[in-house]
Order: sequence, then structure tokens, then C-alpha cells
Amino acid sequence: MKERAFQQCINPGCGATYAIEQVKVACTKCGSLLDILYDWDRLPVPKSLGYFEHRWSTKGSGVQGQLDFSGVWRFRELMPFFRTDDDIVTIGEGRTNLQRADLLARQMGMKPGKLMLQYEGLNPSGSFKDNGMTAAFTHAKMVGAKKVACASTGNTSASLAMFASLVEMDGLVFIGSGKISFGKLSQALDYGALTIQVQGDFDACLRRVRQVAVDVPQLGIYLMNSVNPFRLEGQKSIMYRVLEAMDWQPPDWVIVPGGNLGNCSAFGKAYSELKALGLVKKVPRLAVINATGANTLNELFSRRNLRWQGGKFDRTVPQKLFAAMDESNYHPHTIASAIEISRPVNLPKALRALEEMNGVVREVSDEEILEHRAMVARWGFGCEPASAAGVAGLRKLLDEQVISPSETVVCILTGHELKDPNATVKYHTGIDMKAVQDIAPREEPKGKYVNRPIQVEDDLGSIVRALGGDPALITAMKQGTRSGIPVAEF
Ligand code: F0G
Repeated sequence: MKERAFQQCINPGCGATYAIEQVKVACTKCGSLLDILYDWDRLPVPKSLGYFEHRWSTKGSGVQGQLDFSGVWRFRELMPFFRTDDDIVTIGEGRTNLQRADLLARQMGMKPGKLMLQYEGLNPSGSFKDNGMTAAFTHAKMVGAKKVACASTGNTSASLAMFASLVEMDGLVFIGSGKISFGKLSQALDYGALTIQVQGDFDACLRRVRQVAVDVPQLGIYLMNSVNPFRLEGQKSIMYRVLEAMDWQPPDWVIVPGGNLGNCSAFGKAYSELKALGLVKKVPRLAVINATGANTLNELFSRRNLRWQGGKFDRTVPQKLFAAMDESNYHPHTIASAIEISRPVNLPKALRALEEMNGVVREVSDEEILEHRAMVARWGFGCEPASAAGVAGLRKLLDEQVISPSETVVCILTGHELKDPNATVKYHTGIDMKAVQDIAPREEPKGKYVNRPIQVEDDLGSIVRALGGDPALITAMKQGTRSGIPVAEF
């Protein structure tokens, strides 16, 4: 008999299944991404979404009360992969706002009540990542993980470091050199994660952390990037909260910035499950917005017409693009450092979400991102640059008349304004605080809790050594056999 919850390969040509207790970031048979699936007939699914409203009055300090307090777990019947409520790791994440943004709407030429901003920066670590981390940490606890790791452009690492310290696991984060905003770096250091600064960008960091987690099993590392399907289960809750704030009536559009494409993938899964369960009638359209300097999805979807096609998408299309990137030694570059990613690992799931939500993809320049970030701050509560890519994308889609000013639009503001104050100060004053810091005299840090980043070459042996491991432990080193992310693994 089928389990109530299980992992399944997203490639319909494969469809291999795995037990929930297995730790996997890819299908062992074909290398594709995995989904968490449920046998809903054997699970208690509410008859309508209004069921969840009672949880606002039952939040409290007991286990159930804490789950009802969480903006993720108050929807726990829609992500039932855990065994008992005691499995769940929660710190009160997901208590975020949907703000009716009439002043900003006016600036954008939209009617009052039509533009809403979902402030995910109000999460405990200041970004939407906490929605996914609470779910992945729940799974990590279920399987007895002790060491958790991720590669990050900054927000995933901040969130991981915070959860790891609170549940007393060892946190390990890989960040690119000079690639992450100080706000985010300061969080990883402050929460006590071992911070490995790799000479390279996010794509290099992700490749390395996957190698360390998969090819050096002796290090016992549990991988927390969004290739971990449990992360995306938690991120579905962003859509549940948007619905809740709109009295369970879906908007016409959801707009989200695209980096590693985990969030948009989670939104597609949320809506296709809700639709299949008869809990919503309408599915909003999805717009995923890239930065021009990191525009892989837009290039593939809008220019090269790559489509999911029931899972039979033409894998040679991304393969060719990535080969050309390698050949020209291309590296992404954008002021929106959070989405400075050229090889989004969730590409197949994003293509699926675009199909499920009748989606579009656009790219916006750094200038457009900065202008719209300033507008969100001037007529809202502010956000970091990557989040404003969504709002800049909305402007583009209005101009193109793809979105009409009378449609309801929700822009997901993924990270808090204070994550990247340098971008803000530079915008308003022209002063680059990062550059000023480079010329300032340095002091040796003396504090009792100093946690310095460790700088390493982009080389697996050096990284394993920095982690206290023996490079001789490295197994299966043939690139692409297990952990490398070449397109064959799509
Ligand atoms: N917005 C912000 C503020 C982010 O930090 C990220 C991703 C995204 C948007 C893109 O989301 O990857 O699901 O498409 N940040 C990751 C990180 C990559 O490491 O913090 P995505």
C-alpha cells in the first residue's frame, strides 16, 4: 500500500518513489528533482480553507498552540509529511503581512485595492527562507541530522544559521566571496554558523556544498538548499497566507523574483494541490522576474521557448545555454545579489509551475530594480533589491498590457529592507559603504563570541580540509556522477 506521504521523482518517465525518512536531494535512478507527495484520500484534509481560521484563536504556548501560532504550521494539514506534532521545529515563522498598497498602486497607474504586497521580510530572520527552513529542519530532526549546510546568496544562510543555533545543530554555510550583503553575512556569523567563503559565486558554492554533502558522506552533512524537497513544502504556506488575507479568493496574479527558482516552484505546487483538493476554483497567473544580469529562466522560457511539456522538456536547450556560459566564462552580475544565480537548480520545477499557473517570465535591469525598491520604501515598508525585481516586473507587464490595471496583483517581497542597507544608502547618497570599509583600518576582533569566516579556494580538497575532514575521504569524484549539477540530472 502507498504511504500517506512519500518522495517521488518529478520526471514522469522515471517516477521512482522513496520513503519520507530517506535523505535525498535527487532521484537515485535518474538524477531529477524530488517532490513530496501525499495520498490525500488517507489524510484528514479540511473541506474548505476557512477551516484554518480557528487557529488564530488557538495559538498558545503548548505544542499545538505553537504550531497554530506559526504562519507555516497553522496550515499543517496541507504539508503532512511529519509523523507527530512533536517532530515539528518551529520558531514562530511565517507571521507575515499582506499589505494593501494603494499609494504604490497609484504610482503604478493601478486602481486602489488592486496591488498587494506580501511582506516576507517580516519573518524572524528577515526573509521568506524561514518558511522553508522550518520544514527542512523538521525533516532533519526526524532523520536525526546533526550537521546542516547550504550554499547561499545570504538569506538561506541567515535562516539556516538561526534555526541551527536554536535547535542545537551544527550550521555550515557556503557563501561566494564578496557576493553577499553585510546584513546577511552578519547574521550567519552572529548565529554561530561555520562560514566558508569560497573564491567564486553562488553557483560554485552550491556545486561544492552538494559535493561535500553527497560525495563525502563521512562528514554527515544534511543539505538545506531548495533541492531539498521539504524546503518547498514549507514555502507553499506563503500562498496559503496570501489566500487567507484575501478571504480565500485567489488574486489574478502572483509576481515573484526568480533566483534558484524554489519559491515559484513551491507556489505552483501549492496551487495545483489546492485545485486538485477542490479547495480553490481559480489558479492565479504567475510572473517570475529575473534580473537582467542573471536571466537564465527568461532566456530559456521567453527567448528559447522552453516549456515543461508534461516533464518531456527539451533538456538540450538548457544544456546548450550552460555549455555556452562555461565556454565564455560567464558569471551572473546584478545589484540584486540575492538572485545573482545563473544555474537555477529548480529549473524543471519552475517550468512545471509556469505551466500550472499559466505563467510568464520577464527580466528587469538593475536601474529598474533600484527605482522600484526606492518606490516600495517610499510608499510601503521597504524591501531588499531582489524583492523589488517583482515590482519592476509588474511595471513592465503593465506597460506591455499583459497585466491590466484593474486586475488584482500580489507582489511577494521576499526580503527585509535592512538586509542590504548599502544598496539603499548608495542609492540616496552615492556613497558605497562597502568600498569605504575596504580602505578603513582593520582591528583584530576580540569578542568572546567571535566567529570569523574561513576563506577557501573553489576546490573540494581545500574545502574538506577546512571542515576538519580528510580529503582522502572524497569518493565518487567523477564530476556529474552524483552531486554535480550538470543538466543530465534534470
Ligand atoms: N529574493 C530574495 C530576497 C532571495 O534571497 C532569494 C533567494 C530570492 C528572491 C529568489 O528565490 O531562489 O526561490 O528563486 N535567495 C537564495 C539564498 C538563493 O541563498 O538566500 P528563489
